[in-house]
Amino acid sequence: MKSKYLTTPIYYVNAKPHIGHYYTTMLADTLKRHYMQRGYAVTFLTGTDEHGEKIEQMAAEAGKPPQMFADEIAAVFRDTWEQLNLNFDIFFRTTQKDHAKKVQTAVQRLKDRGDIVFREYSGNYCVGCERFLTSSEVNAEGLCPDHLRKPEPRSEANYFFLMSKYQQALIDYIDQNPEWIEPKHYRNEVLSFLKQPLGDLCISRPKTRLTWGIDLPFDDKYVIYVWFDALLNYTNALGWPDDFDADLWRSCIHLVGKDILKTHAVYWPTMLMALGIPQFAKLQVGGYWLSGDHKMSKSLGNVLRPLDVEAQYGTETLRFYLLKDMAYGQDASFSENSYVACINAHLANGIGNLVSRVLTLCAKNEVKSFDPSTLTDKDRTLLALRRLTLDAWDRAFEECKYQNAIKAWCELVSSVDFYINEMKPWALAKQPESRADLERSLCVSLQMIEALAIMIYPVLPQAAGKILAALGLGQSMLATATDVDRTSAGYGLTYDVPKLFMRVTITEETT
Ligand code: MSP
Repeated sequence: MKSKYLTTPIYYVNAKPHIGHYYTTMLADTLKRHYMQRGYAVTFLTGTDEHGEKIEQMAAEAGKPPQMFADEIAAVFRDTWEQLNLNFDIFFRTTQKDHAKKVQTAVQRLKDRGDIVFREYSGNYCVGCERFLTSSEVNAEGLCPDHLRKPEPRSEANYFFLMSKYQQALIDYIDQNPEWIEPKHYRNEVLSFLKQPLGDLCISRPKTRLTWGIDLPFDDKYVIYVWFDALLNYTNALGWPDDFDADLWRSCIHLVGKDILKTHAVYWPTMLMALGIPQFAKLQVGGYWLSGDHKMSKSLGNVLRPLDVEAQYGTETLRFYLLKDMAYGQDASFSENSYVACINAHLANGIGNLVSRVLTLCAKNEVKSFDPSTLTDKDRTLLALRRLTLDAWDRAFEECKYQNAIKAWCELVSSVDFYINEMKPWALAKQPESRADLERSLCVSLQMIEALAIMIYPVLPQAAGKILAALGLGQSMLATATDVDRTSAGYGLTYDVPKLFMRVTITEETT
C-alpha cells in the first residue's frame, strides 16, 4: 500500500492552542483524510516542543517545575485536537521516553564525523524564536518582527554544527527538486538566503544560562539547543536510529508556518545530510492568520481559541472557513464578519439547504428510487460534473491550492441548486402523470448529494457522515473517492432530514 507521513510543527508549550496552531493541524487532518480516500496509508504526527529557555521562563513565572508545566499544556493541546476531531496517529513530546537518548546519539554521530566544533560566539538572540537573528531579520526599530521584542546581545563559548559544509549540497538539492518546497515563493526565498555564505549552527547552551534541555553527551556543562532537539522528533517518532521506517520517512510532508521556514528548509535538511538520513518528500509552508495586521500569537495576546469559536459558531464551520479564506502560503485576516457570511452562504444555505430541501421533497412524496433508463441529457450533464469536480479538487490539492478545491465544490452545490430550480420537483409533485420525472429529478439530486458528501469529507468529516447516514449509506463509503460517480437507482432513505449547519448572526467582534 502507498503511504504518506504528514507532520505539523510540534508546538511550544508556552501557549494554549489558538487558531494559528489549529490551522496547520487541521490542514494535516484534512490532508490525511484526502490521501486516505485515495488509497494511502497515512501516519499523521503532531505534538509538543517542551525544552528551551522560553518554556523554562514561563514555568518559572507560573511557579511550577518545567516538567509539570509542560505536562499540563501538552495535555491541553492533545485534548483540544481530540475534541476538534483531529485524527492524529502520533502525539510526540520532546520529554517522552527515549527521545533524549536518540538526540544524544545524533549529536554524538555528528561529533564523531568531525561536524561539531567548539568556539566563541556573539550574536543577538530572540527568546521568542529561540534563535539568533541576523541584522537583516530584525525590523527598522531593531525588533524581532514576530515578537516585537529586541533580541538580546549574547556572547559565549558554544558547540557548533558545521552547517556551512552542507551549503552547496543543499542548494543543489533544492535546484534538482523544484517541488520540494511549496509554494514556490518560499523556495525562492530559501535559495536567495543561500546566496550569502551560510553560518554554522550553535547547538549548545551553557547550563549557567539554561538547564531545561537534553544534556550534551560529551560535555556536561551544556544542554542541547532546543531546535536541534525538536527537529529530530520527526525521525525519532519513526524509530530512528535502530528501527527506522525509512520508506515511510521518504514520503514525509512537513506542514509548517512561514515563521519556521529557515529551521525546516536549512537547519533540518543539513542535519539530515550530516546524519546520512534521506530527505523528507516535501515542505509545505503556510502564511499567517492575522488579527488586525498582526500575526496571532500568544506573545502578542491577540489570539482566538478554536474550541471557543466552534462552540459559538458550530462544529466544523471553522475548518471550512479557514481553508476557504486563506490562499495557502499567503497571510489572511481572520474576520468574524467574513466567517459568519461564509457559514451562512455555503454551509447553512449552500449544502445545508440543498440537503434539507431534497430530503424533505423525497419524504413528502415518498420518493426513494427511479428508473435509470429515463435519464435525460440534462441529468447526464449534471451527473458528469461529479467526476470533473473531483478532478479539479485533486489538482487543487496537488498544487496546495485548497481554496480552489472548496471553490469547485461550492460551484457543484450551486449547479445542483440550479438543476432543481429548473426541474421544479415541487410542481411535478402536483401532477400525477409526472411521477417518473419527479422520481428521476429527486434521485439525480440524491446522487449529487452523495457525491458532494464524499468529496467534502476531508474538510467536513462529521457533516459528510450525517449526510450519508440520511441517504441510508454506510460510513465506509467515505473511505474512498473512486466511486464518486457511481450510478444508483435508489436509496434506503429513512426520510429523516439531518440538521447540518445553523444560520448564525454576528455577536461581537472577538479580537
Ligand atoms: N516549537 C516550534 C516548532 C518546532 S517543529 C520541529 C514552534 N512552535 S510554535 O508553537 O511557535 O508553533 C509554530 C507553528 O504554529 C507555526 O509554524 C505555524 O505552523 C503555527 N502558527 C502559529 N501562529 C500562527 C498564525 N498566527 N498563523 C498561522 N500559523 C501560525 O515554532
